[in-house]
Amino acid sequence: MKHILAELETRREQARMGGGEKRIASQHAKGKLTARERIDLLLDEGSFEEFDMFVEHRINEFGMADNRVMGDGVVTGWGRINGRTVFLFSKDFTVFGGSLSSAHAEKILKVQRQAMKVGAPIIGLFDAGGARIQEGVAALGGYADIFLENTLASGVIPQISVIMGPCAGGDVYSPAITDFIFMVKDTSYMYVTGPDVVKTVTHEDVSHEDLGGYRVHAMKSGVADGAFENDLEALTQVRRLVDFLPLSNREKPPVRESYDEPGREELSLDTLVPANPNKPYDMKELILKVVDEADFFEISPDFAKNIVVGFARIDGRPVGIVANQPQVLAGVLDIDSSRKAARFVRFCDCFEIPLITFVDVPGFMPGTKQEQGGLIRHGAKLLFAFAEATVPKITIITRKAYGGAYDVMSSKHIRGDINYAWPSAEIAVMGAKGAVEIIFRSEIGDADAIAARTAEYQAQFANPFVAASRGYIDDVIMPHSTRRRISNALRNLKGKTLSNPWKKHDNIPL
Ligand code: HXC
Repeated sequence: MKHILAELETRREQARMGGGEKRIASQHAKGKLTARERIDLLLDEGSFEEFDMFVEHRINEFGMADNRVMGDGVVTGWGRINGRTVFLFSKDFTVFGGSLSSAHAEKILKVQRQAMKVGAPIIGLFDAGGARIQEGVAALGGYADIFLENTLASGVIPQISVIMGPCAGGDVYSPAITDFIFMVKDTSYMYVTGPDVVKTVTHEDVSHEDLGGYRVHAMKSGVADGAFENDLEALTQVRRLVDFLPLSNREKPPVRESYDEPGREELSLDTLVPANPNKPYDMKELILKVVDEADFFEISPDFAKNIVVGFARIDGRPVGIVANQPQVLAGVLDIDSSRKAARFVRFCDCFEIPLITFVDVPGFMPGTKQEQGGLIRHGAKLLFAFAEATVPKITIITRKAYGGAYDVMSSKHIRGDINYAWPSAEIAVMGAKGAVEIIFRSEIGDADAIAARTAEYQAQFANPFVAASRGYIDDVIMPHSTRRRISNALRNLKGKTLSNPWKKHDNIPL
């Protein structure tokens, strides 16, 4: 017995050393932590329990028979974040570059399946070189098995991916199916095929960073939902995000005691919207002043900045915020902002997180680039997402709600539960100038006539009353009372039940 215990300790020690001191030092020299150091930062102290520490690959070709490392390039297990259970896997770049063999895949599959059984989030920390080249096709099978589990888990448990080093080939598609992808600036990159293959196929010379660094994915492609300065910041922020989420779709989102009075009034909001309707203001100011303790976890802050989405709490309960941002492109809806918000709305609906929508939108972005890029289909994603969502939906129109974008932004017609407007709201088919230029085209040469028509149109529609007279708006509220009205509505909507017609699944315009 004693010698078994001694051997157990020796083996554990060996496994914990991963690819050995030299490779650990090289990992640190690149500004990266090791797989286990990352786990220690992510989880509550002492809560991690590792599975499959002694698993080794089964490859005998290419000299691999004498080259087995316990753990096989991935550390898996369970632990807690602020007392709540999570499952995780953390790729160990010091062991065969974190590459995936069939044994490595089986370890990931085990935690994926357990997370589903238990109903707890799964977090993947990526730092890997793709399929284990020495194993070949079995690694492809392993990836496909993981993708299937990711797909089945979608909408059942939250799945979060953090890219903390290379993430190439087979490794990119598991994160792509998960709910959120975060990157670490300058040390991480993601691509389907790397610079060498790119050079061969397209003759382009491109760096890892320019092909798949955070500037590409967190700012342009929208593949990543955020990028952080270093490993420590990324892991700390993931802990913060998990606090907003339910453990699974079988649970309600976690309620936290709030020290922020739900009826708190913010007088400064009464002057937030400028008198000139063409002047921008910062929608984030409104968000921060309305939510508990100004605590807002923004998703994709550097991509499609004309829409702001993220998690916050009101009266201690998590909510999803969707808000047009008048400071960027006047808050217009375009392809990227529609895609970004649609995905967020669907996440909230999967996990019973109520949606608060702040509207100041001049319409959809006109132009050949947008139309040729498929604005119709991408815009429809957001429309579809809001329309199908059955969680409590509260909408506040602060200023413009023009045209189709009015309908899309969680309007009453697509089952908004409570739709309020500020006195500054303008709910119309389009802005007065554009409207007059169409319906009074024959008078266009006559500046005085056009000015009079514009003023007439403005007087008719540049207010919330026409919509309110039809019941499209439940009430016109003072900006300073916004938090109170929202928290009251959330409390009253707690018992909401609404379901969609039975279907195998929907056919969202992908
Ligand atoms: C086996 C690998 C490996 C791999 C890296 N290593 N990638 N071993 N299979 N895929 C090993 C290296 O041999 C090396 O071992 C150690 O990991 C560190 O690698 P380096 O190249 O020294 O590190 P670095 O310079 O930082 O470069 C990292 C890298 C590069 C950019 C990821 O290693 C690389 O290009 N790897 C191959 C990427 C790739 O093409 N993968 C296959 C994708 S195809 P030692 O012993 O020296 O420490 C794929 C298909 C699946 O994934 C599709 C499913 C849908």
